[in-house]
Amino acid sequence: MCGIVGYIGTRQATEICLAGLKRLEYRGYDSAGIAVVEDGELEVVKVVGKLAALSQALDETPLDGSLGIGHTRWATHGKPSETNSHPHVSNDGRIALVHNGIIENYAELRDQLEDQGYEFVSETDTEVIVHLVDKYYDGDLAAAFRRAAEELEGAFAVGIICADHPDQMIAARRFSPLVVGIGEGENFIASDMGAVREWTDRVYVIDDDEMAVISRDDIELTDLKGEPVDREPYVIPWPADAAQKGGHKHFMHKEIHEQPRAMRECLLGRLTDPERAITLEGLNMTDEEIRGLRKVVFTACGTAYHAGLVGRFLMEKLARIPAECDLAAELRARDPVVLDHTLAIIVSQSGETADTLVALRELKEKGAKVVSVVNVVDSSIARESDGVVYIQAGPEIGVASTKAYTLQILTIALIAAHFADVRGGTGEHELIELRRAMLSLPEQAHELIEREDSVKSVAAKYYRCPNSLFLGRGVNLPSALEGALKLKEISYIHAEGYSAGEMKHGPIALVEPSLFTVAIAVKGDVYDKMIGNIQEIKARSGPVIGVAFDGDTEIPRQADDVLWVPECPELLTPITVAIPLQLLAYHIADMMDREIDQPRNLAKTVTVE
Ligand code: M6R
Repeated sequence: MCGIVGYIGTRQATEICLAGLKRLEYRGYDSAGIAVVEDGELEVVKVVGKLAALSQALDETPLDGSLGIGHTRWATHGKPSETNSHPHVSNDGRIALVHNGIIENYAELRDQLEDQGYEFVSETDTEVIVHLVDKYYDGDLAAAFRRAAEELEGAFAVGIICADHPDQMIAARRFSPLVVGIGEGENFIASDMGAVREWTDRVYVIDDDEMAVISRDDIELTDLKGEPVDREPYVIPWPADAAQKGGHKHFMHKEIHEQPRAMRECLLGRLTDPERAITLEGLNMTDEEIRGLRKVVFTACGTAYHAGLVGRFLMEKLARIPAECDLAAELRARDPVVLDHTLAIIVSQSGETADTLVALRELKEKGAKVVSVVNVVDSSIARESDGVVYIQAGPEIGVASTKAYTLQILTIALIAAHFADVRGGTGEHELIELRRAMLSLPEQAHELIEREDSVKSVAAKYYRCPNSLFLGRGVNLPSALEGALKLKEISYIHAEGYSAGEMKHGPIALVEPSLFTVAIAVKGDVYDKMIGNIQEIKARSGPVIGVAFDGDTEIPRQADDVLWVPECPELLTPITVAIPLQLLAYHIADMMDREIDQPRNLAKTVTVE
């Protein structure tokens, strides 16, 4: 779960690599390194810690050269240390390699290579690749990698340079993401297109078992057997500055604020008039297929899983299709029974989460039709799905997912409402009202963001509490889980997300004055029950922050503080409720001086199982 970059051109490779790595730091940030070919020699600088440390090391030991590769690491094999960080280098110091992925048969390969006299300096799986390339190298770097790849099992995206070839960079992929950025007189490689967008808007998205042999003026794409690959460049649709903070203190804050616009873009061309049907380009399902569906299975990890939980609710309530939602990491373990006419909806911001990808393959193999709800265009999950409905959120850099979550729910709501329309699961009038309410969501999100100061005042009252509980029921149980996840991942405050109905079965024992409870009590089917739960907590001296609809008179009487949200149909409230909960987590973490965009131990994209 790392980020790789590479540059070949006429500029200083270290500057380009450092800037590219900065945009990939969300993929891991426990150590980093850069290798450059300079005057026929390979020079390497590696450090433990974030990119700031690498930048400082490069100030002290500048590397001069216009061919280089770089890496930011999230440790899997071997602790964060200088020797374990990439680039890894062949024993003769002439070949350097950066890698994202996991080599599953590395132990066996390492034994073989050690027997053949190769000396290993790190504990990583990656080091076997560079020694294998070296073993097969006889002057042709591309051929050596192809030969080495035959022996590799597992996942890799690699960048390779060699002191003998100052005019060449090799890149290859199997299961881990990789793009080649197309420049003029210069070319780039990176784990994602956001890393190269500053310099080019045209990329080749490399597929599994493909590689690129890159010079300053040419990019040759082949498969790993050396057969040419014909590929049209992909034009990145967002502007070069989309991945900048734009005046916000953190990416997370910027991304929370981007939600109204992103919602508008998500609806664009799909739902324009409440009286008209929803159109979902990319869904790739006929009306007949939709009518024939017997089951929908959502699967995802983390925040995307919470969106899937909301999706399960929407699918059953609106389209009346039996639905379930699995944690992707657990799906394979229960060997799920997949009936005929099952639709799997795979939810992922990055489209690269390893557990989710494995679950997708499992469901596909068992005969499910697979549609993904993804943000990153052309990502692995998008490409392996039968249909893909993009959430159109634009780049999400903050490790804590915010805009992707609300847009995932909105996209799933569009799918569920479309299914309801085709299958007749919901009355026509009700559907028109739901579509009208969806069209109002961008404006409501805007209003919610305008109320940020009041959320900040609530945060100021509670940020010293060591423990918290988030309670919800029904469609807002996932909101409670997501509210708790947001708070814990960026503030490190202990936060439990629970069904309010489960309170009396255990968690109520935690209630005391230093534990605050966030109770989601918007009007709807479970409102009265939520009021009962709030009273039970208050009776035990627990402070309560209620989340309620504007104008509610009961919740302010019961709760100590209220986060207000504009009224909308209950089924859409997970979208509106999410925004004050994101802001609450953000401001609490900010008051605690946490590293909000890069919380400890986390990476934005988890590309290992
Ligand atoms: O890229 P994905 O949506 O597949 O990522 C899934 C989770 O890793 C992700 O949502 C994670 O839980 C976030 N840190 C939550 O903020």
